[in-house]
Amino acid sequence: MSTQPSQPATTVAWTQGDAERTALWFSASGASAPKKVQAVDDSLTADDAHRLAAHGTAMLWQGDYHNARQLLSAMARRLPAFSRNDGEDVAKAFYRFRQGRAHRSRMLGLLLVPLEPGPAVALRRAPDVSEAWLAAAGPVEEPTVVPLQDVLGAVGAYEWRRNGLFVQELDAVIHPQYGTFAPIRSEYLGLVAQAALPAAGGAPASLAFDIGTGTGVLAAILAKHGVKRVVATDSEPRAVACAAENLESLGLSDIVEVVQGDMFPEGRAPLVVCNPPWLPGTANTLLDNAVYDPKSRMLKAFLAGLPQHLEPGGEGWLIISDLAEHLGLRSREELLGWIAQAGLEVLDRLDTQSSHPRSMDRSDPFHDARAREVTSLWKLGVKA
Ligand SMILES: C[S@@+](CC[C@H](N)C(=O)[O-])C[C@H]1O[C@@H](n2cnc3c(N)ncnc32)[C@H](O)[C@@H]1O
Repeated sequence: MSTQPSQPATTVAWTQGDAERTALWFSASGASAPKKVQAVDDSLTADDAHRLAAHGTAMLWQGDYHNARQLLSAMARRLPAFSRNDGEDVAKAFYRFRQGRAHRSRMLGLLLVPLEPGPAVALRRAPDVSEAWLAAAGPVEEPTVVPLQDVLGAVGAYEWRRNGLFVQELDAVIHPQYGTFAPIRSEYLGLVAQAALPAAGGAPASLAFDIGTGTGVLAAILAKHGVKRVVATDSEPRAVACAAENLESLGLSDIVEVVQGDMFPEGRAPLVVCNPPWLPGTANTLLDNAVYDPKSRMLKAFLAGLPQHLEPGGEGWLIISDLAEHLGLRSREELLGWIAQAGLEVLDRLDTQSSHPRSMDRSDPFHDARAREVTSLWKLGVKA
């Protein structure tokens, strides 16, 4: 099974001296191939690079790899910093903030580097990125042009995956893969670990579904807490591969089955758990997929489908924070309305205050909202 996103093959073209050149195009975030590409080298200044990017011209770097990295940082410094306007509505400010981030990603995504089969960056003093690129995007079959920021992202993610993330609730390390949601914010893991499992005849739930399993961390916590069998789904092949690998190394693959699919597996379970992305909004980058749920699609699909997948007397656990409420992106009434519309009722709610470093960061433009964020585990049942 390929764990890489499939992209239609497109090419980019540029002029090299008198010759017309072409190469395949690849962007990890799915950005379309730039129409204008200019070959550039170490003589390009950061101001000129900024100007070219502002006109939508992509720059195919032909100089020294480390100089390209420095140029990317210099381009980033030339982009305007976000600040809140006095009295501005928080939802509008957040929208502007996200637009700024998307603009930044587009601008910086215009500094390109050549990749050759190996995969190798075909530049002077380029490091060996083969393992990192293979893990993130798969083999390179022929000369390909990619944004430098994708190469840096792949290298960073590879390090991150190798080191892993210690999860206290598992007393073990989880290895997130490139493009898979990493359970950095541990407060929601604690909620799942502490919540009493629904019991039938005194015994813990025999079966649970984990919808959108990511690294498989919640499925693993459920298995460690006595659930006899867990079926974990994810629509992303990368996540399915990542979860399967983590569960194998945790010695839990006999208990947890990981399947690729849209939302629920077949059948019903006494416990169905879902941690959808917490903010409604468009995903502009690969990493956004874990944070933003376009039009609250996953959240609504979970609520609407729950009654058809819960056994009588079963519990649906929705893990979500109220940050969207503090940012004016979703109201509590809306959430309660979707719960009621699905024929569900709230059986209980476990809350925990945010403890991640971002909620303490006073320089964050949305500190006021982040400091008030409460993460909850909503226990839902089918209304009698
Ligand atoms: C916020 S992440 C949560 C990951 C993991 N459960 C955790 O708590 O760390 C949401 C996950 O849902 C997956 N997802 C999004 N839409 C989905 C769908 N329609 N069906 C199944 N999984 C989906 C994403 O790929 C992502 O891995």
